[in-house]
Amino acid sequence: MKITVIGAGNVGATTAQLLANAELANEIILIDILEGIPEGKALDMYESMPVLESDSRIIGTNDYALTANSDIVIQTAGLARKPGMTRDDLLIINANIVNTCISNAVKYSPNAFYIVVSNPLDVMTYLALKATGLPRNKVVGMAGILDTSRYVSFISMELGVSMQDIRGMILGGHGDTMVPLPRFTTVSGIPVTDLIPKERMDAICARAAGGGGEIVKYLKTGSAYYAPSASVVQMVESIVKDQRRILPCSVLLEGEYGVNDAVVGVPVVLGKNCVEKIIELKLNDEETGLFMNSVNHVKETIAEALEIIAKNNA
Ligand code: LAC
Repeated sequence: MKITVIGAGNVGATTAQLLANAELANEIILIDILEGIPEGKALDMYESMPVLESDSRIIGTNDYALTANSDIVIQTAGLARKPGMTRDDLLIINANIVNTCISNAVKYSPNAFYIVVSNPLDVMTYLALKATGLPRNKVVGMAGILDTSRYVSFISMELGVSMQDIRGMILGGHGDTMVPLPRFTTVSGIPVTDLIPKERMDAICARAAGGGGEIVKYLKTGSAYYAPSASVVQMVESIVKDQRRILPCSVLLEGEYGVNDAVVGVPVVLGKNCVEKIIELKLNDEETGLFMNSVNHVKETIAEALEIIAKNNA
């Protein structure tokens, strides 16, 4: 297993480190345009492997040739938010970064699976699909796991019970319009709606939807990276070990949920072929309305992104 992580910033470096710790790949390439940073961070990680008792080899580079024949490519490069910004404010700059990185990577790894982490997430996943020309099962965005992980953390805080017993689901775009689903959330099989009153659940859902922004407000110079990186690793593990876990991920919809030509978060089965299956939940009218609102927002942003790319290519 060879995995390339594009971007040696906080998310990229933390992801590489977690992948190596878990020995999910024997070779990990950390690539960035900054000179010295990927080499230095990768060497530092490499030197931690004897202590961590892992045989993953991590190599840092600026050269895409070293990424050749990767099985999985993880796209993290791009600017992160600063306080007061929405993820969509990153569109112009990140559209060009993601397009360039993915176009470079796919020349050397035409058969890899691509996991996109750069923001605005759903739109960047759509651009990666276009840039690779790969089928939709091979290009997938990480967001739903992160959003759901925040949501589960807050439910655990509220109830004072183990996070391990809580299963939840957040759908839609990775932004203010995301759709937490209390009706599909359980605690050891007990519907969460039986355990937490509606107004408290509403507050938890709102905090989850604003969870990324909450971290940006604290950090001031960037956005979250521990929970995002852990979420990427969960996707990689499900693929590498063919676990077939059901996880919310951003994928291109082609008729599912009545949606065409938009990438948004929905539950999928992740296994050895990457996205093995898209699961269609039976949403009620209210949930459908919120989901379609989110889809429409993502669609508008995709249209803007395509214009940006076209202008740049003109
Ligand atoms: C977040 C950013 C990384 O949700 O999108 O933290």
